[in-house]
Amino acid sequence: MSSVTLDHVYKRFGQAKGVEDVHIHIESGEFFTFLGPSGCGKTTTLRMIAGFYYPTEGHIRFGSQEVTSLPPHKRNTGMVFQNYALFPHMTVFENIAFGLQVRKVNKTDAKERVERIMKLVRLEGYGERRIDQLSGGQQQRVALARALVIEPQILLLDEPLSNLDAKLREETRFEIKRLQLELGITTIYVTHDQAEAMSMSDRIMVMQSGEVQQIGTPHEIYHRPVNRFVASFIGETNLWEGTVAGFDGDEVLVRTASGQMLSGLKGNASPRAQLSVGEKVTMSIRPESVLESTGNEGQNVVTGSVVMSEFTGACVNYVTEVGTESLRSMSINLGRPIKQRGDAIGLHIPKESIYFAG
Ligand SMILES: Nc1ncnc2c1ncn2[C@@H]1O[C@H](COP(=O)(O)OP(=O)(O)OP(=O)(O)O)[C@@H](O)[C@H]1O
Ligand SMILES: [Mg+2]
Repeated sequence: MSSVTLDHVYKRFGQAKGVEDVHIHIESGEFFTFLGPSGCGKTTTLRMIAGFYYPTEGHIRFGSQEVTSLPPHKRNTGMVFQNYALFPHMTVFENIAFGLQVRKVNKTDAKERVERIMKLVRLEGYGERRIDQLSGGQQQRVALARALVIEPQILLLDEPLSNLDAKLREETRFEIKRLQLELGITTIYVTHDQAEAMSMSDRIMVMQSGEVQQIGTPHEIYHRPVNRFVASFIGETNLWEGTVAGFDGDEVLVRTASGQMLSGLKGNASPRAQLSVGEKVTMSIRPESVLESTGNEGQNVVTGSVVMSEFTGACVNYVTEVGTESLRSMSINLGRPIKQRGDAIGLHIPKESIYFAG
């Protein structure tokens, strides 16, 4: 296993920027995810780690070994490509054994290793099938087995679940995590699906337009987004504009665009937020933290009129018009009567759940 360092890495394609100034240190054995919308530079960064692209600037190291300009076959990384890139005319066995053949592993050892890996990814008995006789989920596992069989130091997975249906995605997500924990392998995972990233990763790097926006644990990224982009990309949130009106001990008072006064905690601010009187701030308020008011909270209660109410069984979701703002809330169904469109509602925004995103 090995750590991976990207030291101020840039990739340009002619005039077009691929990625800019990616600077990360991924620990040995870590499950690290690149997350961001289409075209943000996830595959480009992964390909530089695998050696399929060389950086325009910067350095890549595996442990203390400089690999920046090493070709892919000298890097000992296993990669699952965005479209799997399996060999359709070969059997499952031949696909998985391919990397061992290239590395001139003798036939007896290769057979033993392929069979062991097939067992690990639960493909026993499928060795003689052709790729086009497999389901999407089975193909995905062949791609994973092909990457794992060479016993890579680093496993690179580029949207490996994107072709699977919802149920299979969840199952395979669990399986990949199980394998990663079992083998303790440094894993870099690419996805544009925030739930996938949140549930699997030790840390996440959020990217937009080739630039790193934030690196942190799922908890940090969710609760402490550094800007509007991260706040809204990672799950649903309410983004309210406000102006800092004053301070009271460790609390900051903010007047919202529609004139409500809210109190938040000074400690809940991203380094980019300007918390001084008269400055504009963006507040991120997660829907699940907004509670129906009991009437006893004293502060941070806003009133409004329900625009939409949605009952999903487990949850009750409201969209409420509060002055000129709209506020989404989501709560566990406790069997209370559900408000309907047009009903008046009081909502409590606990001060510790307001985050100043800057
Ligand atoms: N070989 C190439 N030549 C020119 N431009 C490229 C090349 N590869 C990628 N790009 C550009 O670099 C940017 C990042 O592309 P990349 O494939 O890394 O995005 P991505 O985050 O993986 O997106 P997706 O989620 O759609 O797979 C895009 O603007 C893309 O058009
Ligand atoms: Mg991609």
